[in-house]
Amino acid sequence: MGLNATPFGLYVHWPYCTRLCPYCDFNIYRNRNGDHDDLLHAILGDIEGHGRRITAPGPLQSLSFGGGTPSLMRPEQIAAVIKAAERVFGFVDNPEISLEANPDALSEDRCQGFASAGINRLSIGVQSLDDQELKFLGRDHSAEEARNAIKAARNAGMRISADFIYDLPDQSETIWGQRLEAALELDLEHYSFYALTIEPGTAFGVQVKKGRMVPAPEERSAALYDLTQEHTKAAGVGAYEVSNHARNIAGQSRHNLIYWQSGDWIGVGPGAHGRATINGQRMELVAARHPGDYNATVQTRGWGIATKDTLSPKEIVMEAFSMGLRLRAGLDLARLQKRTGFAVPKHNLQNLINDGWLEVDQSMLRVQPKGWALIDRLVLELLT
Ligand SMILES: C[S@@+](CC[C@H](N)C(=O)[O-])C[C@H]1O[C@@H](n2cnc3c(N)ncnc32)[C@H](O)[C@@H]1O
Ligand code: SF4
Repeated sequence: MGLNATPFGLYVHWPYCTRLCPYCDFNIYRNRNGDHDDLLHAILGDIEGHGRRITAPGPLQSLSFGGGTPSLMRPEQIAAVIKAAERVFGFVDNPEISLEANPDALSEDRCQGFASAGINRLSIGVQSLDDQELKFLGRDHSAEEARNAIKAARNAGMRISADFIYDLPDQSETIWGQRLEAALELDLEHYSFYALTIEPGTAFGVQVKKGRMVPAPEERSAALYDLTQEHTKAAGVGAYEVSNHARNIAGQSRHNLIYWQSGDWIGVGPGAHGRATINGQRMELVAARHPGDYNATVQTRGWGIATKDTLSPKEIVMEAFSMGLRLRAGLDLARLQKRTGFAVPKHNLQNLINDGWLEVDQSMLRVQPKGWALIDRLVLELLT
């Protein structure tokens, strides 16, 4: 791929979960009835529909199954989606084909099944290696089951990432330090460490509103974030993005890099978002949110998209900054200027550099460590 070629990926949203976790506000539904082959067929139709409408910048570099719990899909369903993507868009050599997996759904057999279907990377939702914390988070699995899931994924020859949630109410620096070390001992190529966000409308959000749960104070969250940076760096898995850590470039999530580098991607499945080029315009595409509406939209319109908006040059630039500055490597200003004709206001840039928030190295614009928690504010200062 040339330096300035637009990276291209496909995201598949599978919204069903065995149980709904009290912190989660993704587009999710209880898995009540069976295999959801109706949704599978809608997703296959949606991929075809996108193929007729968008201008793909090239073959797919990545396909990511997210959710929800896409590890509830049968390996044959996954294989059918991969085949459709191959037929409609094609893949580069060695594409990244990843699946978000809950530990309770990851037996040795299922891992082998996913690998045979074409999955080569698993992102496992471990969340914690402490059973009390897992119970608090309303998870369906124990720490031991999570360790077994990682073993099964290793035996199936997959690349592995694990998600962890920290900054739980009452989690001290000492406790998080211990949890983090246990996580790092797993010796994975990739980790995501997310601070617990209390989302309005979730079970945790309701508890906080009623005063039954007290979220972490801001200073402690910042201290736990700093601790995460220190320990991960010492273990050789420093951050390459605000919450994401990899042992080396090959270990990074190629799919998520498409989002952070403002590439093009298609989102299929209920509520999925995409950014794609239609008639030379960069479009924001959003699929119908409820599974029933999504299936009906694919049937009636020939794809699952419910809203389709052209992004203005200003919106494209804002998004490129707020996503690109999340990367430690920074945002490529030369590439952005070539693509959009946009040059950063020199005065704003110089002020933020002088105050130690940003640095420019060659054409890469980077946030300095003291600004890592304030990226959205820095983007506003820079562009307004
Ligand atoms: C879309 S979820 C799906 C993962 C998978 N279903 C699972 O639960 O293992 C992706 C990740 O987002 C993180 N996450 C979801 N809600 C969160 C919240 N409110 N605060 C922090 N992290 C959250 C969790 O670490 C989770 O693994
Ligand atoms: S965290 Fe994962 S399993 Fe839990 S509700 Fe959200 S998507 Fe479903």
